[in-house]
Amino acid sequence: MQINLNQISKYFDANKAILKDLSLSIFEGEVLGLIGPSGCGKSTLLRILAGLEVATHGDLEIPCEINQQTSFVFQDPALFEWRTVAANVGLPLELKGIKNSIIEHCVEVELERVGLLDAAHKYPSELSGGMRMRCSLARALVTNPKLLLLDEPFAALDEMTRDQLNQDLLNIQSKNKMTILFVTHNLFEATYMSQRVLVMQSNPGKIAADIPVSLPEPRCLDLRLTGEFQDSLKLVQAALREVDK
Ligand SMILES: Nc1ncnc2c1ncn2[C@@H]1O[C@H](COP(=O)(O)OP(=O)(O)OP(=O)(O)O)[C@@H](O)[C@H]1O
Ligand SMILES: [Mg+2]
Repeated sequence: MQINLNQISKYFDANKAILKDLSLSIFEGEVLGLIGPSGCGKSTLLRILAGLEVATHGDLEIPCEINQQTSFVFQDPALFEWRTVAANVGLPLELKGIKNSIIEHCVEVELERVGLLDAAHKYPSELSGGMRMRCSLARALVTNPKLLLLDEPFAALDEMTRDQLNQDLLNIQSKNKMTILFVTHNLFEATYMSQRVLVMQSNPGKIAADIPVSLPEPRCLDLRLTGEFQDSLKLVQAALREVDK
């Protein structure tokens, strides 16, 4: 099962194409990083994939099963301050009308998975930035998505917290095999997390390079000290430099 974008274009006003003839295939279970200059259309592309935005031209082929099971994580964790952590995480299931006893169980499993079980009854204002993002991630995962879209999810976090969340996300993905597409400006993160790094160019936005990252899996943070990691990183850096000229 794969997602295909065929010659997608997006205009917010008639004179300027934000995305132009963008084509891309996303395969089941892949972890893809998406990088590119600010304003090139990365968030717009994610929003089209999530159905939050409609392409002006072109064709998005997304299997129904994936379409109905897509979660989106934004840079801002966007938690409801008056709801506890558990109630924030359970919200997507509440909205689906699922029974409370099932919600409680699913929320517990998810909080355990992201290491936030002890904070289940806290309110967002009592959490650190990293904990807020864990909560947001748990809320995205609680519906068991087949496609997880993340838009600069860890950009606001300190490096150690980001490393930890990168690792946690990879561990979760290695178990449930969901497809992940995440936007980042951090090339270390893009290289470390991804099986492919997509590099977007701007004006108009399209995929300029598609770089396979064939580093051993499962990945662990020490990998970043190795020569083979540095080689992959250099390829990604060079491709970004090429579009950022
Ligand atoms: N709803 C909208 N209405 C009009 N223009 C928009 C809208 N959303 C995005 N744009 C424009 O589309 C272009 C691409 O925006 P987008 O947010 O997709 O870029 P980006 O690659 O995610 O940038 P960044 O790295 O800064 O987050 C920008 O010029 C932006 O102003
Ligand atoms: Mg963006």
